[in-house]
Amino acid sequence: MPTLPELLHSLQTLQNDPLAHAGTNIVISRGNPQARILLVGEAPGPQEDKIGKPFVGPAGQMLDKVLQAGGFDPEQDVYIINSVFRMPPGEAGKNFRKPNDAEIDFYRPFVFSFIEICQPLIILLTGNVASQSVLGKTGITSLRGQWFQVQGHWTMPIFHPSYLLRNPSKAPGSPKSLMWTDIQEVKRKFDSLQ
Ligand code: URA
Repeated sequence: MPTLPELLHSLQTLQNDPLAHAGTNIVISRGNPQARILLVGEAPGPQEDKIGKPFVGPAGQMLDKVLQAGGFDPEQDVYIINSVFRMPPGEAGKNFRKPNDAEIDFYRPFVFSFIEICQPLIILLTGNVASQSVLGKTGITSLRGQWFQVQGHWTMPIFHPSYLLRNPSKAPGSPKSLMWTDIQEVKRKFDSLQ
């Protein structure tokens, strides 16, 4: 198993990955590598590609609000990575797109290296792409809020923060209210595992 600096170095010098030709930057992680929660996102967007850190755009601001609502400090209590480490370039007038299966498959071993090195108490998977990468399952509406075991780590799929930005209602049963329920459950589990 590589050390964290070795893993970061192999990502920083990656050249044979399917998105290397896209001309986008490697975007690896933010937060605290010693944190007890590892959060896996989808792929960098334009702001992340520019700055070189995951979740620094509008989705990242929403993510931080969700984590804070659960009583977590996004910089201290969580280490944040993505399922795909470069921004998939856009088609049809858009500047980015969702990662495809081949891209998710290529970067999966790196995601699992982070899990093995960081040994988090809890893994959070935001949305379908992270659930596909780590659990091999999609269908976030039914997966969210459930606990799974991944190599002995408590793992929960939750909605992607971009989905909350597109669905701002806080009504009972809305994505935002379900996210509130899920982050409370994550906090309950986190406290019970300390
Ligand atoms: N969405 C993600 O899933 N990851 C990012 O880094 C930014 C937006």
